[in-house]
Amino acid sequence: MSEIVVDGDPLPFVEGQTVAAALVASGRLAWRTTRVGHRPRGVFCGIGVCFDCLVTVDGARGQRACLVPARTGMTVTTREGDDE
Ligand code: FES
Repeated sequence: MSEIVVDGDPLPFVEGQTVAAALVASGRLAWRTTRVGHRPRGVFCGIGVCFDCLVTVDGARGQRACLVPARTGMTVTTREGDDE
């Protein structure tokens, strides 16, 4: 099975899924919080418009998880926005 690494843990995905789809399929509905108010965010629009789903992918911050196809070995860091 194909896997990405999310916050240091392996996460299986189905070929063709986005990072967001893999996260949601694993049961995660939110993976970061807003800078103001620390409100939970995950997928909202699912089409790259709202920026709610931001993650860091292979060190590149500010990636929209709903647009990034999952690839084996990809490293994803969630909680983006919490430290800003
Ligand atoms: S869910 Fe809106 S940009 Fe990804």
